[in-house]
Amino acid sequence: MSSQDARPAVVPRHVAIVMDGNGRWARQRGKPRQAGHQAGTKTARAIVEESVRQGVGVLTLFAFSSENWRRPEQETSFLMDLFLRALAQEEKRLAEEGVALRIIGDRNLLPPKLRDRIEHTESHLDGGHRLVLQVALSYGGRWDITQAARHAAQRVAAGELAPDEIDEGCLAEGLSFPNLPDVDLLIRTGGELRLSNFILWQAAYAELYFSPVLWPDFSAERYREALADYAGRQRRFGRTGEQVERSA
Ligand code: FPP
Repeated sequence: MSSQDARPAVVPRHVAIVMDGNGRWARQRGKPRQAGHQAGTKTARAIVEESVRQGVGVLTLFAFSSENWRRPEQETSFLMDLFLRALAQEEKRLAEEGVALRIIGDRNLLPPKLRDRIEHTESHLDGGHRLVLQVALSYGGRWDITQAARHAAQRVAAGELAPDEIDEGCLAEGLSFPNLPDVDLLIRTGGELRLSNFILWQAAYAELYFSPVLWPDFSAERYREALADYAGRQRRFGRTGEQVERSA
């Protein structure tokens, strides 16, 4: 059996990844940061393919955070161009692979050309049923929760909802991806041990996996290691280990 066939027994329905380490990867090679982002795009491609192969239902990639706008303009505009080119280049292949694409985040802040391309590619890939690929662009977990609170407040103001009817389900409806499963496995590459305002609400019960490998060096093999690690974990959701074993 090749290592590619080594499917973990329990495949997460939703994997989210903080793709960190592009800049350091480039610096180690004496190259500009942009070269790291370029190399990171190839890794993202490999991880999408492996997700389809492994039967992961939803893959969410953190490509640009609300806070990344603080980077030098030269880098943010390079990244916006890179996303634009990647969408145009990948559209056909993603359609053939059965991948549906969704962009989550504050689109109002994205350049109009990128917004138009996103709308086009999302609708073109609408029928994909093998994998939902979400790319978080100008996204922050706090932004997402704030949107949901605003949505609930608007319903209260419209008289559709009483304040004491606001519950977790009603808030969840206003989040970025209300119809998809919560995050099961959250991976961060690049060695830092933090969430950096990535998916907060929907990752409340995610299993966390930190890899020291810089994103451009992360690979399908490293990804399978993370999936295998996940498969060996016991998820208790507040219950005791004994309760979980009894219900298994
Ligand atoms: C984090 O590394 C990476 C980013 C902020 C850029 C986004 C990711 C890519 C370009 C990969 C491709 C993704 C898509 C969807 C095309 P960093 O710059 O924070 O690295 P550092 O911590 O080493 O400086």
